[in-house]
Amino acid sequence: MAGFKPATKAIIILLFIFLQFSAICESATLSTSSRWIVNQGTGNRVKLTCANWAGHLQAMVPEGLEKKPVSYIASQIAKLGFNCVRLTWATFMFTRPEYSNLKVSAALDKYNLAAAKSGIGKNNPQFLEMSVIDVQKAVVGELGKNNLMVVLDNHVSLPGWCCGDDDGNGFFGDANFDTNEWLQGLTAVARSYKGNPAVVAMSLRNELRGNRQNTNDWYKNMAAGAQTVHTQNPDVLIIVSGLSYDSDLSFLKQQDLQSGINNKIVYEAHWYAFGTGPDKWDARTNQLCADFTKNARDKYFFLTTKENPYPLFLSEFGIDQRGTNEADNRYITCLLAAVAEIDIDWSLWAIQGSYILREGNADVEETYGVMNFNWDGPKNPAFVDRLQILKQVNQGANSKNPGYYIMLHPQSGKCVQIGNNNSVRLADCKTASRWDQHQDGGPLKLSGSSLCLAVAGDGGATSVSDNCTSKWKYVSSSGLQLAAQDGMGKYFCLEMNGSDHSTVITKKCLCVGDDLGDFSTCADNPQVQWFKLVPANV
Ligand SMILES: *[C@@H]1O[C@H](CO)[C@@H](O)[C@H](O)[C@H]1NC(C)=O
Ligand SMILES: *[C@@H]1O[C@H](CO)[C@@H](O)[C@H](O)[C@H]1NC(C)=O
Ligand SMILES: *[C@@H]1O[C@H](CO)[C@@H](O)[C@H](O)[C@H]1NC(C)=O
Repeated sequence: MAGFKPATKAIIILLFIFLQFSAICESATLSTSSRWIVNQGTGNRVKLTCANWAGHLQAMVPEGLEKKPVSYIASQIAKLGFNCVRLTWATFMFTRPEYSNLKVSAALDKYNLAAAKSGIGKNNPQFLEMSVIDVQKAVVGELGKNNLMVVLDNHVSLPGWCCGDDDGNGFFGDANFDTNEWLQGLTAVARSYKGNPAVVAMSLRNELRGNRQNTNDWYKNMAAGAQTVHTQNPDVLIIVSGLSYDSDLSFLKQQDLQSGINNKIVYEAHWYAFGTGPDKWDARTNQLCADFTKNARDKYFFLTTKENPYPLFLSEFGIDQRGTNEADNRYITCLLAAVAEIDIDWSLWAIQGSYILREGNADVEETYGVMNFNWDGPKNPAFVDRLQILKQVNQGANSKNPGYYIMLHPQSGKCVQIGNNNSVRLADCKTASRWDQHQDGGPLKLSGSSLCLAVAGDGGATSVSDNCTSKWKYVSSSGLQLAAQDGMGKYFCLEMNGSDHSTVITKKCLCVGDDLGDFSTCADNPQVQWFKLVPANV
C-alpha cells in the first residue's frame, strides 16, 4: 500500500473496516421472510451452508478435540467454505446433574477412553477439567470467532449414537424421551445462549421416528417446543423436523403448525441414499433420480412453494467420502441438481473425521466425514469443491422471478462457461455464464446476447454462435439430459469431455427413454450428460 495517496489509503482502511463489520453482521439476528432466511435488520438473504459437528455421543464433547485444537478445527470449517455449524447436543447434558456436572476427564474415564483423554490433554488441555457444558460454550465461542453461525440441534436425549426405531430416543413418550424433560433441556439451552450472537438457530429435535410417532403429538409438542425456545430466547430461528427420520413433512399440506410465532419458523429435512443399493442405481440412474426428486418434492420441498411458504433447511445429507459407494455417488449427483434448483439452506453430514466413541468402538472413522481420520485436512477435497453451487446464493430474498439461469454439471460440480473464443467449458460456478429461460424444444440462448449453443455431432466440441438452429429438449426421465438434432436429424446429448473434464461435447444420449430407442436398464452412467439449468437472480 506504500504507493497510495493518503486519501486512497483512508478509503481502503474504511472499506476494510466496513468489510470486517459486514462479516460480523453475518451472524446478526435472523428471521424469515416467505421461503427465505434473512438478516432481520436488512431483510437480505442469509443462506445457511453448514457442516454438522457431532457433540451428542457418550463423551458429550464435540468430536475431534482429542485430535486437534478447537481453534484449528473451527478455522478449517471456515476455510472449507462453510458459513455455519449444526452442533448436536443431548438433552441429558442439560437436564440431569450426573451428566451436566461431569468434567470432560470424568466423562472419558467412565468409558475408559484413556487415549482420547490424553489427546484432549495434549490438543485442548484447557477443556479437560471443564464441564461438558462449558466445553460446548467454548466451542461455540470459537466458531463465533471464525464468523461461523451455529445451529444448536437437540439430537437425542441419552447421549449416544443416533438413530434406531427402538433406541428410546425416537418419539415423545419413548423410554428416554420424556416430553417435559425435553422442554426443560430446550429451556436450558435457549437461556444459556441468549444474547450470544453466534447462535442463530435451535432445532427442536432430530429425526423423530418409531412406533409411537403420530401427527397429533407432533403438532402439540412441536408447538410447545417452539414456544418454549421463543420465550427464553426470542432471537433464534426455530427449526422443526418431520417424522420418519425427518424424511416426511407432507402432513403440513393438510394443517400448518400453530406455533403463534411469526418469522422464526424454519423446517428441516434429511435426504440420504440409504436403502437403495448400487445395483438399482447402476441399472436405472435416470429413473431413480426422477423418483427420489419427486419424493423430496412431495415430502418437503413443497414447503418452499406452497401458498404460505417456509424456509427449508436440508439439515442432513452426505456420502461416503472415500468415493467407493456407487449408490452414494449417483445419489449425490442427483441431489446436487435438485437442491441447486430450489436454493435451500443446508448442512452436510458431517465435518467429523472420527468419533471418540461410537456404538461401543473407540476412535472410529466417520466415512461420511469431510475431515480425514486424523483431522489433518479434508479426506476428499474434490468433494468439498463440488458443493460450490450450493454454497453460493443464487436467488435473493427480494426478487421473485429468475433473472437468468446458470448451467450446472452436477457430476463435476462445475458450471458452463463461455470463453472469449465462443468455446464452451466447465469452470467454477462463481463465474458461470448466464442463460435465458429455456423452453423445452427451443434454443439455448446466452442472456443479453444473440449467441446460442450448437450441437456438434458425435464427439464434437459444442460452441456458441449466432446460428440458433439447434433446438434442445430434455430426453430422459431425470429431466437432466439435453439433446438436439444434428443436420441428419439424429439426437446428441451434451456431455462433459471425459478426457479433459472441461470441454463440453455432444455424444450419443446415454440411458434415455424409449422415445429415443434406448433401454430401461442401462450399463452406462448417464450422469456425465446431466446438466441442470439453475434459476438465479442475484
Ligand atoms: C478458448 O479459450 C479458452 C479460455 O477462455 C481456452 O481454454 C481454450 O483453449 C480456447 N480454445 C480455442 C479453440 O482456442
Ligand atoms: C477432449 O479432451 C481431450 C483431452 O484434452 C482433447 O484432446 C479433445 O480434443 C477434447 N475433445 C474435444 C471435442 O474438444
Ligand atoms: C446452422 O447450423 C445448422 C446445423 O448445424 C446448419 O445446418 C446450418 O447450415 C447453419 N446455418 C447457417 C446460416 O450457418
